[in-house]
Amino acid sequence: MSVYKRSFGLTAAGESAHIYRLENRNGSYIEVTDLGASLVTVAMPDRDGKLTDVVLGYDQAEGYERGDAYFGAVIGRNCNRIERARIQINGRTYQLTANDGENNLHSGPDGYERRLWGEQEVDQQRNSVTFALSSPDGDQGFPGDLRIMVRYRLSDDDEVSIHYMGSSDADTVVNLTNHSYFNLDGQDQGSICDHWVAINARAFTPVRDSGAIPTGEILSVGDTPMDLVKGRRVGMEIDADYDQLKCMGGYDHNFVCEGYRKGRTRVVARARGPRSGITMEVATDLPGLQFYTGNFLDGQVGKGGHIYHRRDGFCMETQYFPNSVNDEGFETPVLSAGKTYRTMTSYRFGVER
Ligand code: GAL
Repeated sequence: MSVYKRSFGLTAAGESAHIYRLENRNGSYIEVTDLGASLVTVAMPDRDGKLTDVVLGYDQAEGYERGDAYFGAVIGRNCNRIERARIQINGRTYQLTANDGENNLHSGPDGYERRLWGEQEVDQQRNSVTFALSSPDGDQGFPGDLRIMVRYRLSDDDEVSIHYMGSSDADTVVNLTNHSYFNLDGQDQGSICDHWVAINARAFTPVRDSGAIPTGEILSVGDTPMDLVKGRRVGMEIDADYDQLKCMGGYDHNFVCEGYRKGRTRVVARARGPRSGITMEVATDLPGLQFYTGNFLDGQVGKGGHIYHRRDGFCMETQYFPNSVNDEGFETPVLSAGKTYRTMTSYRFGVER
């Protein structure tokens, strides 16, 4: 196991970004950058043993700084949408920036995904890198001085784990996720519609309209194209005449993952690339998973000049439910002052012959 660090170019402000390569005993490796604490590369063997990079991204820091798709980034302080860009904590209202119609998406234009995080620790033994970020009181409109750490680790059995830790001096929202786009056939292999995906969720949170704010219901997936419990080809019903899919242009919904209990990690989803045979198993201790099929990708110029089109990657963003800060029926994403935010999500890779 080993961790190597190198330059990843300069940010617009002239600061140096870095890339860290974490390699395991099998020769599989991941690359992460301090810019947005983003996951840049996940190179795993396919069924012929050929290393295949299964995440979409850019070649240089500049792409991550300018991009609009959140490739591989850590999203915070709150991922997903907040209705009318407004929250209330302890009876006080805080106004965030409306950057998705009247709503707030991924915390607004000044997201953590474009910030240069600090290097907290490189642990050669554990094959991990930890990034740290200070988000002051009032940052993005949120209350509380928040300090966050995100640790990426690659194990010898090809598991990429992401641990999130944080604490604040005032009650605030903390709902972090990783926004990697996966294509298990390889990041430059086009549509993911032939991938097989299973999500262990018997319900999802339907959205009101294309603004994507949940209605508040917990709706059964039974007899709908949202039923991914047993697994199916992503494209099988993605364009079905079904309101929830039509209004979002494909899958872009929060699934209510089975077996949620605070602090308990369980497998919530599985996927497989049809051509590479590469498999992925997602485990988390969080209640929800936003399954997003890259419906808004539209010509981003990525690694090696490859152009990403609609549905060329899918995201599995583990999280507290969208708009949960404003919805009393949903598990709260509010972190109390002095308490520690601690969650984890992992992606374990394998191969099916
Ligand atoms: C996802 C979200 C999508 C879209 C995307 C970024 O997390 O669910 O609706 O906004 O981020 O393009």
